[in-house]
Amino acid sequence: MKPTIALIDALQILDSRGSPTIRVFTQLSDGSAGIASAPSGKSTGKAEKLELRDRGGAFSGRGVLNAVENVRGLVGRYFYGRDASDPAEIDRALVELDGTADRSNLGANAMVAVSMAIWRAVAQSRSQPLWKTIAQDWDHNLPVPLFNVVNGGAHASNGLPLQEFMLVPHGLPTTSERIRCGAEVYAQLRSGFAEAGMSTGVGDEGGFIFTGRRVADAIELIIRAIERGGYDVGGEVSLAIDAAANGFRNDDGTYSPERGMKLTSEELCEWWCALVDSAPVVMLEDPFHEDDARGWGMLTRRLQSHITLVGDDIFVTDQARIHRAVLDGIANAALLKPNQIGTVSETIDAWAEARRGGYKTVVSHRSGETADTFISDLAVGIGSEYLKSGAPARSERVEKYNRLLEIEREMVAR
Ligand code: PGA
Ligand code: ZN
Repeated sequence: MKPTIALIDALQILDSRGSPTIRVFTQLSDGSAGIASAPSGKSTGKAEKLELRDRGGAFSGRGVLNAVENVRGLVGRYFYGRDASDPAEIDRALVELDGTADRSNLGANAMVAVSMAIWRAVAQSRSQPLWKTIAQDWDHNLPVPLFNVVNGGAHASNGLPLQEFMLVPHGLPTTSERIRCGAEVYAQLRSGFAEAGMSTGVGDEGGFIFTGRRVADAIELIIRAIERGGYDVGGEVSLAIDAAANGFRNDDGTYSPERGMKLTSEELCEWWCALVDSAPVVMLEDPFHEDDARGWGMLTRRLQSHITLVGDDIFVTDQARIHRAVLDGIANAALLKPNQIGTVSETIDAWAEARRGGYKTVVSHRSGETADTFISDLAVGIGSEYLKSGAPARSERVEKYNRLLEIEREMVAR
């Protein structure tokens, strides 16, 4: 007998910043269950689907009790007794039930938690690991983890406008070796920060808070940590930067990637090219503001055959936006964050569009996270090239990497 939906329940919980978020509990008629929690971003793209917050009252208006009530009432009633054999069908019905372009009725936070919980319950119902239930054009490669080791921008209160400096252990063959490398270099970097007289306090995603001014100095510290960890810079481990350039564009359209700097889009393009020439940077995310298609286009033409250029705020996991970018020659990779769009199926649609356009994908956490590890199974299921989940430290970050270790073992047992 096909399983049907027996229960959809929700609860307001806290995320890693101590801000309220929503956890959803689902149960199917065959007893299978799924639990999932919504993450929350801070440096968001303008076109992200709406995160429903209570506005007034508790938690300075950041409560999600309205979203919780929507799930317990409207969503629960709507889906009770429905066939649960195809989670993509349930995602479609969820989008239909919301009925708005920006998901303001139910809230994308409520929707993503419902969607993920249902996919989990279905996986359990099929006695499959979640990644197998999601599996699309599965290419047997596990994603390379991107370890965020230095935080700036909106995720840290320091002098560094660029948001994330990440390790890319592309030259190491297994997940276990990549994760070991991330942890060893992170430990070396902690020593490096202490020796340089800097605090070893961390930002929202677990990377150290660099208090210097120059990007080149931050990169220098990271390179030294890679070398001291015994790894080959460029051969085994390279660097990625999420600039999150929405955060350092000035009102007059210029950019300040370092304090005191003021660059036009053309000058910023040159600045990025010089940086990529002088350092082992193999990936740049959001190097220009989401509205600066000209800047994005210039840099894409210059660097697309050399490095991975990832669109986050400009694409917001939206299939149509990725399609347009492919036609316009903007970026050559897309970040995928399920809560930017609202459901797992729409995230898979965005991935499929990226793949059709020859773009790579990076499945990503948010700066506000929970212990939920859905994105690890998602990254493996769709065969994404990368998984970005912050530092190799703090439970809400490492649980995603730990899940990759489990999947690596599940694959051997397959
Ligand atoms: P956010 O940042 O989760 O705060 O939006 C992550 C990112 O920009 O990739
Ligand atoms: Zn980003």
